[in-house]
Amino acid sequence: MPGSVLVAYGTTNGSTAQIAEAVTEVLRKAGLTAEARPAGTVASVESYDAVVVGGGLYAGRWHKDARRFVRRQGRELARRPLWFFSSGPLDATASERDIPPVPGVKKAMARLGVREHVTFGGCLEEGAKGWVARMIVRNGKGGDFRDFTAIEEWAARVAADVQEEPERR
Ligand SMILES: Cc1cc2nc3c(=O)[nH]c(=O)nc-3n(C[C@H](O)[C@H](O)[C@H](O)COP(=O)(O)O)c2cc1C
Repeated sequence: MPGSVLVAYGTTNGSTAQIAEAVTEVLRKAGLTAEARPAGTVASVESYDAVVVGGGLYAGRWHKDARRFVRRQGRELARRPLWFFSSGPLDATASERDIPPVPGVKKAMARLGVREHVTFGGCLEEGAKGWVARMIVRNGKGGDFRDFTAIEEWAARVAADVQEEPERR
């Protein structure tokens, strides 16, 4: 049974990191070895059997650390079971329906053979970086729209899928 999973994430304000940590926790409870790491700090994915990549959404694109990571590690990622998640919508839509990946993420999914993508609600609160972020919060359009029950259910499916994989080494 393959056991080592990387959950790499791109974040500006930390909420995607917390989703990645929640996913990692579920993978560990399922008996896998898993770690969440900022995508920008991962030099190689060689030691992992499977990878989950998550990105906060900014202006219709994944956070740049997530984009660069999939570009840089594309060859190795394509050889592993791979899942993507996005985090963004600052309303309940992500809990109500399936939100498709943004175009750049969709392209990367096709190129790398990503198994599944899911969009989770986002979070933007007091103290967020950047004036646009502060404007959104000041105008009452911020909040925490992450559904941790849905996040954990998704992670449990990923865990089950990883466990069904044949051994790589
Ligand atoms: C400047 C800015 C642009 C954003 N653009 C999008 C967007 O295009 N689509 C979306 O769903 N959410 C968008 N959001 C919401 C963020 O994706 C959300 O706050 C997310 O949780 C941020 O993740 P992070 O905390 O990991 O950085 C935007 C937020 C800001 C501040």
